[in-house]
Amino acid sequence: MKRRNFIKNASLTGVGLAVGNSLVSYAETPFKNTLKSTTTLPLVIATWHVENATGKAMEILQNGGTALDAVEQGCMVEEADIKNKSVGKGGLPDREGNVTLDACIMNKDGDCGSVVYLQNITHAVSIARKVMEDTPHVMLAGKGAEQYAYELGFKKENLLTDSSKKSWKEWKKKSKYKPIINIENHDTIGMLAIDKNGDISGACTSSGLAYKMAGRVGDSPIIGSGLFIDNEIGGCVATGLGEEVVKTVGSFLVVELMRQGKSPQEACEVAISRIVKKPNSDYENFQVGYIAVNKQGETGSYSIHQWFSMTKFQDGVNEQIQSDYFLKE
Ligand code: GLY
Repeated sequence: MKRRNFIKNASLTGVGLAVGNSLVSYAETPFKNTLKSTTTLPLVIATWHVENATGKAMEILQNGGTALDAVEQGCMVEEADIKNKSVGKGGLPDREGNVTLDACIMNKDGDCGSVVYLQNITHAVSIARKVMEDTPHVMLAGKGAEQYAYELGFKKENLLTDSSKKSWKEWKKKSKYKPIINIENHDTIGMLAIDKNGDISGACTSSGLAYKMAGRVGDSPIIGSGLFIDNEIGGCVATGLGEEVVKTVGSFLVVELMRQGKSPQEACEVAISRIVKKPNSDYENFQVGYIAVNKQGETGSYSIHQWFSMTKFQDGVNEQIQSDYFLKE
């Protein structure tokens, strides 16, 4: 099934609130990380079905590269793929027809960098890395981020492909610029890697919600929301409706839950339950998914709706794993 149709086709009935409630009634337990890997390293996981991206990341790791190099170059694969309509070149534009990118990256030392509302540059994740490594700042936005990219030698590119332009023009016929509950895909590519030394890094990159209001920024460049890494504990990245991830500081929440002793799977489930149990949550009409890895190399993924998946590359196997989800029939 195509990702952009996942909400349309997911069952919107039979809300499993009992499951959600039981997930949030856990007792918080003290930190008990053993810091020992119980699985084979290196390891890469990513949101959605992106075997080329995880393949690239694993190639970097197997050649002795760092987890940071792996997640950057893995995300770059999707940024350059014009068939991917939610990332980099070819990403669907905002309501004005402008493709604007959000991305962030975080390393094993807790350093991070991000770019917000970046235009005309395909590899947002690489600019985010440069912000982290070569500037005194964490975030650069808009024209400043773009100018910085040119200073680094990145070339100006038109990110609006013919195909995306056609989709935008089609959308404009019906939407009439009304605020909408958007069911287009907004599938951030997020990636987490553990290198052979057990060090963790993560990155995420997105063109954000399709046909968003001009100026809208999602969760993907917000450290703690779209991505969080703590090299003692693990990492998490988010995909889906960024507004809902930001409201619960989702990725930081997942890492903190792992610190308290939850497995990656349990932590992702609790973080989703925080969203669906909010008063007046409209979760039947939006998707959020998390993937997580802990220091031991255990992984987890969970989403609100069906059809979220994680790609995992470990032990020579690069495979798509369907995520469990909250809204069951
Ligand atoms: N998760 C991407 C966004 O909402 O912008």
